[in-house]
Amino acid sequence: MTIDPLLLSDLEKRREEAQSGGGKEKIQARHENGLLTAQERVDLLFDNGTFQEFGMHAQHACHDFGMDLKRMPRDGVITGVGSIDGSAVAVYSHDFTVGGGSLGRIHAKKVCDLMDFAGRMGIPVLGINDSGGARIQEGVDSLSGYGQVFYKNVLLSGVVPQITIIAGPCAGGAAYSPGLTDFLIMTRENAHMFICGPEVIKAATGENASLDQFATADAHASISGNIHLVAEDDQHAIDLAKKLLSFLPPNNLQNPPHSPSEQISLAKEDRFNDIIPADSKDPFNVLDVIRLLLDNGDFFEIQKDWAKNIVIGFGRIGGIVTGIVANQPIVKAGTIDIDAADKAARFIRICNTYNIPLATLVDVPGFLPGLHQEQAGIIRHGAKMLFAFASATVPKITLIMRKAYGGAYLAMCSADMGADLVFAWPTAEIAVMGADGAVNVLFKKEIQTSSDPKAKQIELIKEYHDKFASPYQAAANGMITDVIDPSQTRSTIAIALRNTLTKRTIRLPKKHGNIPL
Ligand code: HXC
Repeated sequence: MTIDPLLLSDLEKRREEAQSGGGKEKIQARHENGLLTAQERVDLLFDNGTFQEFGMHAQHACHDFGMDLKRMPRDGVITGVGSIDGSAVAVYSHDFTVGGGSLGRIHAKKVCDLMDFAGRMGIPVLGINDSGGARIQEGVDSLSGYGQVFYKNVLLSGVVPQITIIAGPCAGGAAYSPGLTDFLIMTRENAHMFICGPEVIKAATGENASLDQFATADAHASISGNIHLVAEDDQHAIDLAKKLLSFLPPNNLQNPPHSPSEQISLAKEDRFNDIIPADSKDPFNVLDVIRLLLDNGDFFEIQKDWAKNIVIGFGRIGGIVTGIVANQPIVKAGTIDIDAADKAARFIRICNTYNIPLATLVDVPGFLPGLHQEQAGIIRHGAKMLFAFASATVPKITLIMRKAYGGAYLAMCSADMGADLVFAWPTAEIAVMGADGAVNVLFKKEIQTSSDPKAKQIELIKEYHDKFASPYQAAANGMITDVIDPSQTRSTIAIALRNTLTKRTIRLPKKHGNIPL
């Protein structure tokens, strides 16, 4: 028996109707504004022909406010699974041309079903958000839908990577769901993310605030720290998502995509020796160290415009995917402040969740001193770094390049905080504090009563510096694995990574630790 051709033409018609979204005019308007459609975004994402859509024929079930007369293709969201470089990834993509991509009951069910599928299969979820938030006509059903999405976001957190692209206006729930995911990428133009818009802020507080001040990619990348990567446009956002996925495993039970080189190069890299300035008060750019350390100098920096005094990101060393955490001496002298601690702690936890070894590069004079820092809770925030490093069970390799002072030395993953291997350059200075500060505390009276206080101070600083401003006291006490010639940094860390990949750690059972939030 051959199938009735009418059934096939009916199917074709239904597919076309679903795929036409909000219609030609709305699609054209998007294109004129430099925006892709939900479908075009999905097509760009996946290897050709690999996308399988879930729920193309979904329709809303709302009868209020004239909705019974309104058809909403796919209920405003495309969901499904496709392959990126041969690996399966689940995607949902809001269709702003359909009811502003707003979330109603069926829309929410599609997203939740997709997340359940991703959890069962152990594959990442990528959301492309472009939505007016809760669908106003569906009332509490929309709120309930968001509740379910948030709940699934949390259940999947730490199980499969969740990445969100913010590619349009994202209000209310369309901002909070991304806020629960691991990485947010946001396009520079045409995208806004906020909980309360300018009108609501004005009504509630009387403040005049423009979207540019708090809701754009630039504002979130440099002021709020809510996002991780800024994209120039939709295509770039998708490229960034793919690059990010190239460092992540599909789920927490698998290793990241290491591609170990057959032989580790033992060649010296003399350029490391030129980086540290002769005067230890002079700054250097830690990105120069990172680029020399990573294969092909390829560093995928995360949150590069926020809390610039700490640098985080991914790269490969001898083919091993590695998370880098590094002090940046050219910003705030590399001190750790509240934002830097938050930024580093979250990154350390993401690396730990997805089995990515950590390499920590240290040049830190301390936590940033200041009234605001103390009042705003540097104790709580700095403690997040201590907590994150100590609780991470992935391989942890620390390189002390120069200053490693006080609590900040511990916060940058010292041996006592659980580093598996600690290397130091001969320029390392490991001490409770810098020589100037230490001498002023210890020898205040002696300096004051001296016939030449200035000369006495200089003499004592030199004495302290000679004694403590080196790695050898720490090395003598077993706190350092080895002091290395900087030119051997790359091979040393590459070998260290190979030697730690089999790491296993057993900890006392507990529900979860109580990180100071
Ligand atoms: C239903 C919506 C909608 C919504 C937009 N639309 N948002 N429909 N529910 N939440 C519809 C519009 O009616 C319009 O339909 C189409 O989408 C396009 O919207 P425009 O306003 O014409 O587009 P634009 O000028 O680009 O403005 C986009 C926008 C604005 C900034 C998103 O629409 C807006 O402010 N929407 C409301 C945002 C909001 O307050 N959402 C609720 C958040 S509360 P037609 O038919 O004309 O094309 C929330 C609860 C969860 O999400 C709580 C978690 C914290």
